[in-house]
Amino acid sequence: MNDHCCVLSFPEYVDAAQRLAAALRLPCRAIDLHRFPDGESCVRVPSTPVEHAILCRSLFSPNDKLIELMLTSATLRDRGTVRITLVAPYLCYMRQDAEFYPGDAISQKIIGAFLAQQVDTLITVDPHLHRVHALEHAIPALRTVTLSATTLFGPCLREHAEPPLLLGPDRESEQWVRTIAQAHDLDFAIAQKDRSGDTSVRVELPSRSFKNRDVVLIDDVISTGRTLAAAAQQAMRAGARSVRALATHGVFVEDAEAFMRNAGIQDVWTSDSIPHHSNRFALAELIAAAID
Ligand code: R5P
Repeated sequence: MNDHCCVLSFPEYVDAAQRLAAALRLPCRAIDLHRFPDGESCVRVPSTPVEHAILCRSLFSPNDKLIELMLTSATLRDRGTVRITLVAPYLCYMRQDAEFYPGDAISQKIIGAFLAQQVDTLITVDPHLHRVHALEHAIPALRTVTLSATTLFGPCLREHAEPPLLLGPDRESEQWVRTIAQAHDLDFAIAQKDRSGDTSVRVELPSRSFKNRDVVLIDDVISTGRTLAAAAQQAMRAGARSVRALATHGVFVEDAEAFMRNAGIQDVWTSDSIPHHSNRFALAELIAAAID
């Protein structure tokens, strides 16, 4: 007996994988992982062979996950799998898309080529695309499907007494902010960001009024939280009544969340691309529709 198609889950993302399997009405089977004392990973795939494997694993804290993906894909193919789809709502290494200093690895291109060797199709959500505008250009050898969680943000935007003002903290965010603003007929503004280090960020607001406005910050990724914290501080200084934040991916490195709250952000909402108590938008239905 073999599975024609099933979702394969990994331990740290099992709830999201089960939600996806339920939305697709497919079985969900577990990939077992064991870490040897020396740090190497042992991967065990289900004993039931599967023709089309849908691997559901978001690639945050990615380094070990990439090795485990390689071990999983090779093992599945050895056991007769003919098609592998990777559902990675958070796609790692997308921000290093250029040689910023001589000798820098262009990680986006290199990791993209690696993923193309492991799987046949990649489904992801709001990948960080800046200088390269489409995922199929970042990873040309792979069939890619790019979804956006911003289509799920609507209910949060209606929780204000008056229509909020959307604020993107940097030029990269404009692609998401503009789309949401147009879909919900809201005002928006885009700030300018200057990052001089991992946790050192300056944000300058455009010249328009923020007085007594409920500001909703929109970004794709919250990592150290410094970008949104700096934008929030500027908005409060400019007279905003409240500041909230919506982001697709909440990586929340170290003190990120506390730092954002101290900067005056009342609520932070994210999608379940990375499990966190700020998760407000479940991606399963969106992804299932793309797979169907
Ligand atoms: C960069 O352009 C991204 O869109 C985010 O603004 C950035 O990655 C957020 O990083 P952090 O939270 O560390 O400021």
